[in-house]
Amino acid sequence: MAKPSVLSGIQPTADSFHIGNYFGALRQWVSMQETHDCFYSVVDLHAITSEFDPKVLKKRTLTSFAQLLAVGIDTNKSTIFVQSQVPQHAQLAWVLSCFTGFGEAGRMTQFKDKTQKGGQERSSVGLFTYPILQAADILLYQAQSVPVGEDQRQHLELTRDLATRFNNQFGKTFIVPEAFIVKESAKILDLQDPSAKMSKSSPQGCVFILDEPEVVMKKFKTALTDSGKEIKYDPVNKPGVSNLLGIIKAITSEEMSLIESQFVNKGYGDLKTYTGELVVEKIIKPFREKTLSLLGNEKELSTLMTQGAQKAEKVAANTLRNVYEKVGF
Ligand code: TYM
Repeated sequence: MAKPSVLSGIQPTADSFHIGNYFGALRQWVSMQETHDCFYSVVDLHAITSEFDPKVLKKRTLTSFAQLLAVGIDTNKSTIFVQSQVPQHAQLAWVLSCFTGFGEAGRMTQFKDKTQKGGQERSSVGLFTYPILQAADILLYQAQSVPVGEDQRQHLELTRDLATRFNNQFGKTFIVPEAFIVKESAKILDLQDPSAKMSKSSPQGCVFILDEPEVVMKKFKTALTDSGKEIKYDPVNKPGVSNLLGIIKAITSEEMSLIESQFVNKGYGDLKTYTGELVVEKIIKPFREKTLSLLGNEKELSTLMTQGAQKAEKVAANTLRNVYEKVGF
């Protein structure tokens, strides 16, 4: 029997992925390869919805691709590709945009947040239609499951609504996908501001996979923790401490009570050092080295990209052909 399909995407908008991306999404991408037919995309079309530099974008796309291989995505099991190399994404996005209400798109909180920060005049129409392109990414591959962090839940709801709307009008065309969100690691917090999610826009509180180990240790050692002394998992009253404990749990898979018991009579400083060392040993060192070594062979990377795009396009073209027929093209 055919395996169920998965699609997910990541933007090449920083010089490196961060550990929020890893725990929230990429780790699930790796494990799902065993049970699903997986499509993973470096979404460079999405990356031009905000300010960008073409040369930097190209480099980041390559580095992102290398990082996906480095964390364990295997081209023999999964299809990894760069979104702009598969033209059906932009084509389906256009059709879906004609089925999306203006108000519906305007209610997306990520768009509202980003326009608030950047100012309405400077926000592009592409930023407004971003979630529709994301829906096209998912629906082209008939994905049943979409592994993402918590911040993508609303975009997944829109995708489901669009799929259902199209199916109701034209007969079954798309699989209606489900978000796959792992609760404990769905939102890794900023080390300097545990009221916000970890994000590249706050580099001091963000641990990048390609950071030097010493830089990572410094970021952990200066992490903002909470009042009091007790080391206890309590995300409401102790968000900083709980974030660190959550990172430990994400790596060791131990019960939280067992992790807490290792810190009885210890201080916040011990917790920060322990978490930093664990992240450096288990995540930063292996993934950083592997990425840098892969980046040493750009030709090989670009061959893998082309092969990935060809594999993806076969599936995407099938779906798009069906959609075009249904709408009367
Ligand atoms: P992007 O590139 O912003 O983030 C990639 C993935 O990382 C997750 N993530 C986090 N998870 C936990 N804690 C954090 N602090 C954290 N920060 C980021 C995100 O939830 C995401 O899963 N819109 C998507 C890209 C996209 C996509 C798609 C995703 C385009 N098309 C189709 C799924 C399916 C995004 O912003 O990713």
